[in-house]
Amino acid sequence: MKTFPYAHRDALLAEAARLRVEIPYSNEVGILLDPFIAGGRSYANRCAIQPMEGCDGELDGAPGELTARRYARFAAGGSGLIWFEATAVAPDVRSSPRQLCLTAETLDRFRRLVEETRAAARAPQGGSQEVVLILQLTHAGRWRRDAAGRPAPVLAQRHPVLDEALGAPAGQALVTDEELDRLQDDFVDAAERAAAAGFDGVDVKACHGYLLSELLGAHGRADSRYGGSFENRTRLLRETLERTRARLPSLLLACRLNAWDGLPYPFGFGTDREKPERPDFAEAEELARRLAALGCGLLNVTLGHPRVLPHLGRPFDAALAGAPAPPEHPLAGVARLLEAAARVQRAAPEVPVVGTGYSWLRQHFPHVGAAVVRQGGAAFIGAGRNAFACPDFPRRLARRGRLEEGELCIACSRCSQMMRDGGRAGCAVRDREVYLPELRAGRRRAQRAGAPGPAGRKARGS
Ligand SMILES: Cc1cc2nc3c(=O)[nH]c(=O)nc-3n(C[C@H](O)[C@H](O)[C@H](O)COP(=O)(O)O)c2cc1C
Repeated sequence: MKTFPYAHRDALLAEAARLRVEIPYSNEVGILLDPFIAGGRSYANRCAIQPMEGCDGELDGAPGELTARRYARFAAGGSGLIWFEATAVAPDVRSSPRQLCLTAETLDRFRRLVEETRAAARAPQGGSQEVVLILQLTHAGRWRRDAAGRPAPVLAQRHPVLDEALGAPAGQALVTDEELDRLQDDFVDAAERAAAAGFDGVDVKACHGYLLSELLGAHGRADSRYGGSFENRTRLLRETLERTRARLPSLLLACRLNAWDGLPYPFGFGTDREKPERPDFAEAEELARRLAALGCGLLNVTLGHPRVLPHLGRPFDAALAGAPAPPEHPLAGVARLLEAAARVQRAAPEVPVVGTGYSWLRQHFPHVGAAVVRQGGAAFIGAGRNAFACPDFPRRLARRGRLEEGELCIACSRCSQMMRDGGRAGCAVRDREVYLPELRAGRRRAQRAGAPGPAGRKARGS
């Protein structure tokens, strides 16, 4: 891959000016490493690990060996907040047979994972660092797969873009309101098990097009308590959080939400009704205020749909095999993610917001993050792909006051490719002994099954 052409701050900021997008920048990154208190809770610093599925669970949903390795590396790396990956609330609502699932049977192994993660966080400081652990709870919705890995979608509404992408059967019935009522119980039960496993909090996942996220944009779901009006579309999320709070008052409530799906009105959340290609963050701002009033103590803001619009949520340079180049410069995508987080943070200033989408920035990531925090555009700077590439970025930052391009994510989409090929996901570039063989094995499997071969093209304009 070509080298990153923005080695210097001035080159990056000149590109931002050319694209007419705003990228704040600070030479001083200390603010990311300072402890702080928010919502009555102490955090060791403002560095967060984003939820990143490794697709390396056991078949019963328990964490596997590579799962434990990942979280130990994240924790030893010094982040103050670790947001654990998408974990299904029941075995039959998973997006892949290797997705984690928290049940009565897997609870003890989650408990061990939490203990090992906390021990890894303390080890390097001789007992001083505490880390806040959030578990992301999910229902895969239209991306559900059965135990054999075959698509088994649960649809919240008919959807011209997504039905086609998924090949959803024309006559398939939608999930009923009664099934959605019962799903609230599954979320609350899973939250109870998460508390028993030792997590500090749970995220009721409402992003990236999975079931609760699809419901947020279900304008077309007729005659339903869960579709049509804003009140109805947000009901499952709000009621699930309310019921979780009632049953588990000391558990930290969190939500990762899409501020904009990127799908045209009337089929997505946060879309400008007149200009479908543009976000209207007013819906996300209103939802954030409502969630804050319900006692939600952490928000994590993201955008788009990884299957059909990956550039919105994870700006990249090289696309997945056979996928088209993104229609915009990745820096424009980063700027939109920064704006989305800032809009939500300002709408609900009492709730700390985790910002997303910094990995494409390479060595500039802490500098942009520090400026965002200083301006009140987010409370935490999240690392997604950079967490795979450089799990100890906070420690490196503390040692040197900067990060080096050669130790970070290169936005090559290989981790997404591994996931798409049905393998275990990690960084095949910076953690190559473990993950390069995984990447190669997954590519061979996928190509035998007829998937496209060579890597995708570079982003337009980059
Ligand atoms: C391999 C892979 C797995 C991911 N798994 C999850 C997940 O479990 N839950 C979630 O909300 N986001 C998931 N994401 C999205 C990331 O959390 C993050 O939003 C995205 O990578 C953009 O942040 P970055 O620029 O720091 O990578 C995943 C992304 C990748 C590439």
